[in-house]
Amino acid sequence: MCGIVGYTGNHQAAPILLDGLSRLEYRGYDSAGLAVRNGEALAEVVKATGKLYHLADKTDQGRSLIGTCGIGHTRWATHGDPSVTNAHPHVSGNCSGSGSGSVESDVVGVHNGIIENFAELKEKLLRHGYRFYSDTDTEVAVKLVDYYYKKYRIGPIDALTRTMVRVRGSYALALMFKDYPGEIFVARKDSPLIIGTAEDAAYLASDVPAILKYTRHVYYIDNLQAARIAPGSVKFYDLNGDEVSLPLTEITWDAAAAEKGGYEHFMLKEIHEQPTAVRDTLNSLLKDGQIDLSAAGLTDETIRSLTQIDIVACGSAWHVGMAAQYVLEDLVKIPVRVELASEFRYRSIPMAENTLVIVISQSGETADSLAALRVAKERGALTLAVVNVVGSTIAREADHVLYTLAGPEIAVATTKAYSAQLIAMDALAVQMAFARGAISPEQYGHFQEELSLIPDKIRRVLEDKERLQWFSSKIVNSHDIFFIGRGLDYAISLEGSLKMKEISYIHSEAYAAGELKHGTISLIENNTLVIGVLTQSQLFEKTVSNMVECRSRGAYLMGITTNGNFAVEDSVNFTVYVPRTDEHFISSLAVIPLQLLAYYTSVNRGLDVDKPRNLAKSVTVE
Ligand code: G6P
Repeated sequence: MCGIVGYTGNHQAAPILLDGLSRLEYRGYDSAGLAVRNGEALAEVVKATGKLYHLADKTDQGRSLIGTCGIGHTRWATHGDPSVTNAHPHVSGNCSGSGSGSVESDVVGVHNGIIENFAELKEKLLRHGYRFYSDTDTEVAVKLVDYYYKKYRIGPIDALTRTMVRVRGSYALALMFKDYPGEIFVARKDSPLIIGTAEDAAYLASDVPAILKYTRHVYYIDNLQAARIAPGSVKFYDLNGDEVSLPLTEITWDAAAAEKGGYEHFMLKEIHEQPTAVRDTLNSLLKDGQIDLSAAGLTDETIRSLTQIDIVACGSAWHVGMAAQYVLEDLVKIPVRVELASEFRYRSIPMAENTLVIVISQSGETADSLAALRVAKERGALTLAVVNVVGSTIAREADHVLYTLAGPEIAVATTKAYSAQLIAMDALAVQMAFARGAISPEQYGHFQEELSLIPDKIRRVLEDKERLQWFSSKIVNSHDIFFIGRGLDYAISLEGSLKMKEISYIHSEAYAAGELKHGTISLIENNTLVIGVLTQSQLFEKTVSNMVECRSRGAYLMGITTNGNFAVEDSVNFTVYVPRTDEHFISSLAVIPLQLLAYYTSVNRGLDVDKPRNLAKSVTVE
């Protein structure tokens, strides 16, 4: 949510900023803006609602904004509607318009996050003569920095640290001060921000892809730290305003990883990257042919001491938790609870001694997951983060980290990160089961063998994609789609339904098949599509029965099952087969047709597949 970029150097800033913002589009936004300054001149602010090309058009692709230092922003509205006035950058001056143009201001800034006590701070600033043109918490933050800057006649870093002590909430703030040409000042708490350096330039961004074209050397600024950025120089400060040093990290993944590489959409590219994402993740957990969790710091002794596992996550990562729950319970024989992070954080769940809380997150920045992690730590649990983005806040704050190696994921609807999380959780379950003596060495060998075959089997499912493309053209005008399954198949249904609704905008629901009769079946009408996931042999017949009940009320049926279960064709209208594997690990295969179906349905409906309306890739606010 919200993307920030900044540049200072010898080149014209605006085209670099626009390019960076275009690589952050995946985060979700509804307006965008730039502030660029030319030497000592005032910053020029340009803002536009809607897609980034409106901003590019307004600035002649950045050419009409002259200057070598600037900041840019894509805004996902939280406080105030998506309008030019509420778009960032915001200025400290008491202007009457929308804060655009060459506004006489000492401070101009962009922000990602939420200032929770903004109303109280606004009151205070109003008493001190400040006037507000927007409804945003960001304008309050920028004016508060300006207030401290002038009241105490201090430098930008001290004004920033005073502000950081005073505000509650989350922020990645990037500011330019009129008196400091060529410099950008930043502050961070609980919102992502990285700083890049090059010989005669410095960059900042919400995420690596925005600046990867220009530099591979980045700093991960910590929580409650500030920084001062000038061409070729970056300095970091703690809350006291004392300088601190941070390690420089080299980004090793290829810039091409964040490009479409010939695919029509990032989502399709990422769907096809799943065999690699899964194989890389699995290989990173194998040593001498055995699963080895030592990189995550999880010893067999720690694993043996556990009495309970709680999995906490949001969105698709929560669906991974739902799937992992069945695998962990069955293999490890340990009580497992799966909670939505947004619920977990506000409940007072008694924490059993020796509980492991696993937080699953692609971005490692999801606000609710981060808050849940902190709650778990406060309650004395041991915490493990299963995270894709290296150096993200959740990865840094958890006791242990298990990285998924999906590489950068750009499409809002997750596919390869989800699959990498699944395999990581499956490998974790197998190792835990073995460490606790719940499975024999033979079973351990069998499970490892089965896991290692998953990447190739995913590739085989992908080869069959044309059938799904064809089927999607038949269902493209559906009003409602129901996904049903039992056990693990229910967890897969949850993900299939989410994929479908988020990018096709067709209403869909996932139901535990046994629950249909308690309400949902009343929604079945002639030709309502019901998709049944039928991979668990023990539950197969029961779910087929539920599907047949739907058919007798007019439903049109699609089934997903494993090779060889041909009898299903007697009951359903359209069947998709996936290769057989140990049934514990089938989610990795059964989810692929559902991803493809959602993808093609979105394409067939002419929608913005990679950037569905109202959604953001990384949900950094509550
Ligand atoms: C957003 C994304 C989902 C993701 C969820 C959790 O809703 O669109 O794809 O599953 O956030 O994000 P995380 O980064 O914590 O996995």
